[in-house]
Amino acid sequence: MNSKTIRKICCIGAGYVGGPTMSVIADKCPDLEVRVVDINKSRIAAWNDNDLSNIPIFEPGLAQIVARTRGRNLFFSSEMEEAIANADMVFISVNTPTKTKGLGAGQASDLRWVEASARQVAEFARGHTIVVEKSTLPVRTAQAIKEILMSTKNVDQKNKSDSTFSVLSNPEFLAEGTAINDLEEPDRVLIGGEDSDAINDLVEIYSRWVPINKIICTNLWSSELSKLVANAFLAQRISSINSISAFCESSGADIQEVANAIGTDKRIGNQFLNAGPGFGGSCFKKDILNLVYLSGYFGLPEVADYWEQVVLMNTWQQDRIYRIVLQKLFGTVNGKNIAILGFSFKANTNDTRESPAIRISCDLLEEGASLAVYDPKVSIERIREDFDNYSFENQGKWKKANSIPDALKNADAVLIITNWAEFYGLDWDYLATLMRSPSWIFDTRSVVNRNEIKNTDLNLWKLGEGS
Ligand code: UDX
Ligand code: ADP
Repeated sequence: MNSKTIRKICCIGAGYVGGPTMSVIADKCPDLEVRVVDINKSRIAAWNDNDLSNIPIFEPGLAQIVARTRGRNLFFSSEMEEAIANADMVFISVNTPTKTKGLGAGQASDLRWVEASARQVAEFARGHTIVVEKSTLPVRTAQAIKEILMSTKNVDQKNKSDSTFSVLSNPEFLAEGTAINDLEEPDRVLIGGEDSDAINDLVEIYSRWVPINKIICTNLWSSELSKLVANAFLAQRISSINSISAFCESSGADIQEVANAIGTDKRIGNQFLNAGPGFGGSCFKKDILNLVYLSGYFGLPEVADYWEQVVLMNTWQQDRIYRIVLQKLFGTVNGKNIAILGFSFKANTNDTRESPAIRISCDLLEEGASLAVYDPKVSIERIREDFDNYSFENQGKWKKANSIPDALKNADAVLIITNWAEFYGLDWDYLATLMRSPSWIFDTRSVVNRNEIKNTDLNLWKLGEGS
């Protein structure tokens, strides 16, 4: 296939990956028309809202980019057919959660949305279309996409005799909360594929703002696997430091000091060493479980067990925190008021997928606690949905608090789960007066400094701090 000039791009999926990624491409390439489509009409309506504070994803810097590109060369719409038919390049950026039923349930990725997208492309595309898989996918999904594109095309030959496809893998490495910076200045862009013309077309787009030596081209399978492995290594680091946080609490060492000391070794590096309530987000758990599933599939049970331990350690950390809260509050939280500070899985995002706050809160509710949840960006509907989707017997009650003091009023304890900037340097002298005595702070993110509470009667438990 000859290299073609890419003028129109379509992205299927206006979520946490598709939305920010396409906004940055539109911003960096004003000559390209970028159309983001989604089956979720209310999500598209929110992306088109005149009030930019209503766009569906909170991500620092995103609203400003949408403000200058939307309606210029960035469009959000539900008109799938038209957008795909006119596109030279289609990105698939739909959700790929872990399967809940059937073969591979609990581990393998559910590819029904990817498959549906591939079928839409097969049906509507005209001429030659480069199909780029952006969603995190199990290794060899590109092959499945190719087969769907070819077979659907063969079934319906009407008007389709001229449609051809090239499939590329271009995994996204952005982290939520820093997505815009990660997209504008990526450590690398990874492109996997076999069709060198299609690869060149995608390289040409990224090279407008990414130095060419940061654009890595590999074969399809290496590209797909690299994404899973990058996330597995990152998650493994968090489980490693979290396991040591428990060790510190028992041994009298301090996790901050240990992380600092080991992080100075260049081979280890000082990033991603913050102990906490365990990793959340849509990627880490899903990708590791995918790796576990595929390792089993390829007859490598030892490899599967090795990686599964990273997820087991993560769940253990969350359970451990809940048990510590219970134990410090004399073994019962029934009828006690507990403030939850932070519900998103990390700071600077309104995303709650796999947030440690969900599991810990539900365990406390099952014990009969009364929770007041405060998060600067997560909506009450989102929290309600997360509780409704979690299988547990709710014996307690919860409300969404409007501010930190509102959450702490009459609280017996406050549990800090997300490290939002506004949780640092709080006026604990004042906040302590709102709480019931004896009162506890459970700080899972090391945001409270002991000096800040020295004039209060608050008890402070900090994750990873040995006594
Ligand atoms: C991750 C990868 O970083 C990104 O490259 C990939 O594209 C998607 O998955 P994301 O899940 O958005 O990104 O956020 P990340 O910053 O990696 O944090 C994931 C979780 O790990 C969060 O719950 C965070 O609080 C936790 N974490 C991170 C720690 O507990 N300690 C750390 O030191 C770093
Ligand atoms: P991610 O974090 O991977 O971006 P999200 O769940 O935030 O995942 O976004 C995925 C988006 O893809 C959702 O808005 C969903 O409605 C959309 N989507 C899923 N399947 C299709 C499809 N077949 N056609 C169009 N959009 C789809």
